[in-house]
Amino acid sequence: MSYRLDITFHGPHQQFRYRIEHLLFSVRIGSRDDPMTASLIEGKPIADEIRKELRERIARLKEKGVVPGLAVVLVGEDAASQTYVRMKGKASEELGMYSQTILKPINFPEEELLRLIDGLNADPTVHGILVQLPLPPHIDERKVLVRIDPRKDVDAFHPINVGKILIGDHSGFMPATPYGIQEMLIRSGNPPTGKHVVILGRSNIVGKPLAAMLMQKDERANATVTICHSKTRNLADITRTADILISAMGAGAAFVTADMVKPGVVVIDVGSNRVPDKSSPRGYRLAGDVDFEAVKLKALAITPVPGGVGPMTIVMLMRNTVKAAEMMLEQ
Ligand code: GUN
Repeated sequence: MSYRLDITFHGPHQQFRYRIEHLLFSVRIGSRDDPMTASLIEGKPIADEIRKELRERIARLKEKGVVPGLAVVLVGEDAASQTYVRMKGKASEELGMYSQTILKPINFPEEELLRLIDGLNADPTVHGILVQLPLPPHIDERKVLVRIDPRKDVDAFHPINVGKILIGDHSGFMPATPYGIQEMLIRSGNPPTGKHVVILGRSNIVGKPLAAMLMQKDERANATVTICHSKTRNLADITRTADILISAMGAGAAFVTADMVKPGVVVIDVGSNRVPDKSSPRGYRLAGDVDFEAVKLKALAITPVPGGVGPMTIVMLMRNTVKAAEMMLEQ
């Protein structure tokens, strides 16, 4: 049996509040043989807090006559992409931002897509531009991403913004998923400073930018970072040294098992896998890359799937769009 004291400190400083929660989360009473259960790092309350901060920033922009605007472009009819694009438009509108969703058929020519981006680059009502990936095979993704004005590149996929992340220049943007993970770590009272962060996955969307962000000489980072990937040898030997383990490899449900982590680890699960489940009306349930039930007995804190990183990503995109609008106003 184990006990845990959950107390929320309602102080004026939200970051402080989470730190206090975490300290108390770590207070557990139990015998040595008793399995511990990790505290949950849930995305929704953190995302709600950030939305509240954004509403204030949006209100200040509106007082100056600026409504932050986000244009989302989707080429083709991929069902998952359609859902993401709808969610991004809805999230913009809920915050009182201007939202433009542009849907084009799968055979939309690359040249026309580039011209469409030129138009959005020149449109003063649009502060953020996002072209949903993946694009159909006849379109060169890199050509498209570099066409977006870096000042409107709220996805942070343009090489200028990628470079700024690497050199720690905060005048650019950070991609939504890594940005959300950094925010979750800090606001849940698990700051990366001095920790060994092991990232599973080297994608341009999550693994690589996250590594660059967390290794910066910066109070929000200062981590020792190791990236592992599909060709890494002795993976479990490395993951067992992680103070913070971030799984973003898309390796499949329950890839990260309890024997791969050390006691007291903080686990961030970016995985999203469909697991057949006859008891669900959809016939499947969502699961991350981590064997949640087993790992939570060893971890200090862990994100659930769904309900962990997922709710953070769209709100961080909104934050980038608000930042883009603020920067344009200052120019
Ligand atoms: N497809 C999957 N994730 C993303 C993302 O973060 N941005 C864009 N543009 N496309 C995606």
